[in-house]
Amino acid sequence: MEGKTVKSSQTTITELMIPSYANFGGKVHGGILLGLMDKVAYVVASKHSGDYCVTVSVDGVEFKEPVEVGDLISLAASVNYVGNSSMIIGIRITSLKPKTGEEKHTNSCYFTMVAKDEEGHPTQVPELILEEEIEVRRFCDAKKLRALRFEIKKMLNIEVKGLTFEEMKTMVAENRCIIKA
Ligand SMILES: CC(C)(COP(=O)(O)OP(=O)(O)OC[C@H]1O[C@@H](n2cnc3c(N)ncnc32)[C@H](O)[C@@H]1OP(=O)(O)O)[C@@H](O)C(=O)NCCC(=O)NCCS
Repeated sequence: MEGKTVKSSQTTITELMIPSYANFGGKVHGGILLGLMDKVAYVVASKHSGDYCVTVSVDGVEFKEPVEVGDLISLAASVNYVGNSSMIIGIRITSLKPKTGEEKHTNSCYFTMVAKDEEGHPTQVPELILEEEIEVRRFCDAKKLRALRFEIKKMLNIEVKGLTFEEMKTMVAENRCIIKA
């Protein structure tokens, strides 16, 4: 299987935030933005793999400031890392106020997508050809993110799943919860 460049699957989608996207507070609903992120991640992953892809995990999504109705949101996405069947797609989100031209980088986040074959099994994706130093840097960052994610999963399994009920009660004794179980 031949490798593919990062550029060959890079994609940007832009969407105007219309009034029907607003939540009860008049700002854009977080789910609308998550949906756009998932869409652009799917496009990039299927362009790179040439297969049907599914979303497996999401890292780094934060809503630090509200997005307003009328903002133009752009999501620039590229493959940052490939494993065997998985790909980490980096998404840079910017918002632009069309009337003033004010532009803001709102968030960067990472979607892990897995390519599937016709039987629905994970299938190998092409190697990633890195042509620029920034692409090598992003590959390294994503590799660290993937290792960290596995470490967290392992820690949760060992440290939380392994605890007795009494140990869990001790663990949360100082926290703002009332155990009635
Ligand atoms: C993700 C999924 C394909 C994993 O299947 P599996 O049989 O466990 O396959 P594997 O263990 O070989 O994992 C496949 C790849 O996913 C990666 N992966 C699995 N779980 C992961 C997780 N929680 N986070 C990040 N990557 C993960 C593995 O590291 C592996 O990557 P690699 O091939 O690059 O090494 C399977 O659980 C699935 O289909 N989930 C549903 C996804 C879906 O439908 N999403 C849409 C939600 S509406």
